[in-house]
Amino acid sequence: MMSIPQPAFFMFKCQQSAPPGMPKPSCVSESNPESKELMQHLSMTLMQKGIIGNVQPIQTGCLGRCLQGPVMMVEPGHVMYVQLTKEKITRIIDEHIIGGNVVEEYVIPEQMWGEPIDPASQAK
Ligand code: FES
Repeated sequence: MMSIPQPAFFMFKCQQSAPPGMPKPSCVSESNPESKELMQHLSMTLMQKGIIGNVQPIQTGCLGRCLQGPVMMVEPGHVMYVQLTKEKITRIIDEHIIGGNVVEEYVIPEQMWGEPIDPASQAK
C-alpha cells in the first residue's frame, strides 16, 4: 500500500500581533509594516518553488522570543530564525530547506536559546 509522505519540514511562523499600545513587542506589528507580509511571502515562495505541501508553513502564536521578532521555527532541527525580513525568508528556503544548510547568521544567539530541559527531570 502506498503511504502518504509526511512533510519534510514544518515552518512555524509566529503571527502574534500585540494590541496597539501594548508595551511588549510582537512578531507582527504596525511599527514594522513588512512584518505583516512575511507569512504570505513564506507561503508564496514555497508555492513558486513547487515545494509547498512537502514543506508546510504553519501560523503560530507567540513562540516566546518576542524581543527577537519576527521569528520562525523550522522543524526538524528546532532551528529558531529571528529578525526576519522577506529577503531572509527567501534565503532560508533556498539555503536551508532546499540546500540543506542552516543559515547560521539568522539563527537566534545561543544565549537566547539554551539547551532544553528534559521534562522528565521536572515532572511532579
Ligand atoms: S510574539 Fe512572536 S515570539 Fe512572541
